[in-house]
Amino acid sequence: MRVLLVGSGAREHALAWRFAQSVRLSELHAAPGNPGIARLGQCHPVRADDPDGLLALAVTLSTDLVVIGPEAPLVAGVADELRHAGIAVFGPGAAAARIEGSKLFAKEVLEAAGVATAASLPLARPPCVIKADGLAAGKGVFVCTTGEEVDDALLKATGFGGPVLIEELLHGPEVSLFALCDGRRAVALGAAQDFKRAGDGDEGPNTGGMGAYSPVPWLDAPEELVEQIHQPVLDELARRGAPFVGCLFAGLMLTEDGPRVLEFNARLGDPETQVLVPRLEGDLLEALDAAATGRAHEPLRQGTDAAVTVVLTGPDYPERSDYAGAPIEGIADAEAAGAIVFQGGTAMRDGRLVTNGGRILSITALAPELELARGRAYEAVEQVRFEGVRYRRDIAAVAGG
Ligand code: AMP
Ligand code: GLY
Repeated sequence: MRVLLVGSGAREHALAWRFAQSVRLSELHAAPGNPGIARLGQCHPVRADDPDGLLALAVTLSTDLVVIGPEAPLVAGVADELRHAGIAVFGPGAAAARIEGSKLFAKEVLEAAGVATAASLPLARPPCVIKADGLAAGKGVFVCTTGEEVDDALLKATGFGGPVLIEELLHGPEVSLFALCDGRRAVALGAAQDFKRAGDGDEGPNTGGMGAYSPVPWLDAPEELVEQIHQPVLDELARRGAPFVGCLFAGLMLTEDGPRVLEFNARLGDPETQVLVPRLEGDLLEALDAAATGRAHEPLRQGTDAAVTVVLTGPDYPERSDYAGAPIEGIADAEAAGAIVFQGGTAMRDGRLVTNGGRILSITALAPELELARGRAYEAVEQVRFEGVRYRRDIAAVAGG
């Protein structure tokens, strides 16, 4: 199978790493990819948000399957363009990707599907959560407990230009639950917990994710949750003529009254993928191809090892995601320590690997126990050096949230 992988983050590196182990793979291409992916396949200088460029590349390469990692191309309809050209795509079309692209649409679908979510409130009064409707790269959600925070949040949320949602403030641990979908069937892929805040002890601003672990020991029966949450949403989307093909990612809060959906994403999580993928047994590429061609069947088996990933960022992340040019050392040492180093914001300059982004690397380790995997991951993290490196010291220290 000739595969084109769209994206350039550590999530896409983890997918590429796994695809490279598949007997089904004949050629791996990436657009635009990164230096880590370039060790496994051929990278092409086409941006993830360039539909014409991606279509031309996929046709030129006689691609059998396109796998789209990030949300922006999905919401922009890149998958539709490729499908119209007869190319199999793992990733939803624009109509189904609205489940991530519009929080109002997601709420409407959830209500129609009878899936529990945070109640909408008519007025912004503390405590509440204020959300900008559209894609905001994790920066459009404001948890408010005082009147001052409400005023500030309304100003910021309306600043995104679209509608604003007001929700009840829920409490409980959060979990990311993933399912592979072929438009009709949702098949559980696994669960992970992500650490969203920038600082230790969940302090500081929200980020795209500073680390993750999987499995989630306190989450009972994730497969049943997929039947109760993902499947009805998939049915509702299909009923509306917007079948969802790809990975449906539910952000859940486990409240005292049961699980509640906080949000849906139309893709795999980053950094959750960096712990989900190394734990899977069986052929992930085959499973994504099956979902892309209407044949999703039983779930891939999960290994018994636990996985922990720690994200290494530039000094000013998340305020800035453009930390470029600092040489990166020690990846081979981290790998020798038994870890897998997934590259995100990296580049080659004059033959050297340098930083080029916000989330630079994602370092994953596996072990029979979560605590052991955590120790291994941090041992490897200490082998890697670049100027200004930052990471959380407490990823997976408390597996509970
Ligand atoms: P979202 O992008 O909707 O997942 O929101 C980002 C983060 O905001 C979530 O991971 C939660 O920590 C928090 N959040 C969102 N909605 C709520 C809610 N209704 N109650 C409490 N926290 C929330
Ligand atoms: N880690 C959360 C996300 O990918 O949106």
